[in-house]
Amino acid sequence: MRSRFAAVIFDLDGVLTDTARFHYLAWKEMASGLGITIDEAFNETLKGIDRMSSLDLILEHGKVQLPLAEKERLAFEKNEHYKELTASMTRKDLLPGALERLDELKTLGVKISLASASKNAPAILEALGIPGYFDSIANPALVARGKPAPDIFLLAAAPLGVRPEECLGVEDAEAGVVAIKVAGMQALGVGDPKVLAAADRVVSGLDTFKFAELFAEWR
Ligand code: BG6
Ligand code: MG
Repeated sequence: MRSRFAAVIFDLDGVLTDTARFHYLAWKEMASGLGITIDEAFNETLKGIDRMSSLDLILEHGKVQLPLAEKERLAFEKNEHYKELTASMTRKDLLPGALERLDELKTLGVKISLASASKNAPAILEALGIPGYFDSIANPALVARGKPAPDIFLLAAAPLGVRPEECLGVEDAEAGVVAIKVAGMQALGVGDPKVLAAADRVVSGLDTFKFAELFAEWR
């Protein structure tokens, strides 16, 4: 039987691996150097948001204004810190169920794509040992607008020759779920149903379901 979806388009950070906490740690330390305190609730608004826009949100939160050159320096330093925090990642850092779900999609003949806002995504995929699973990887440097705009999900789907309605996007971020829905795709949220209320379905992790069963009951 043909699968309900022709492609599954994954976010990376917080979906396939727990790098969301490293982004948070690196931003928290940078913010604290400026006398700005950020907590986990505020961090939800940063998830899925590109590097410079995240910095702008933090500065706005702390009512701090800085010249562009200083912002570029801070963003660079945050990224250096993030790279240190993620330097020793290996396949064991995949979240529970991630490898099983990727294998399952291969068996089902469903295409797999990546729509991450992170410019570090190719390096993280390498560290996790999973680039070979992906039929396409959208380059966030090529999109004019970051999440919650749909651009990165549409870019991920384009080389696959599939229509948006045949795609399932998988996201842990509110902005990411909005991006999927605006792209005209179905959205599977991974995380808190209250945060991800705009998703069509929400699961607590990739180890809590099988795609075959999920697709069979998808309306
Ligand atoms: C997203 C993360 O995947 O990538 C954000 O959820 C992060 O927290 C964004 O800011 C950009 O990542 P990077 O690695 O390009 O700074
Ligand atoms: Mg994410």
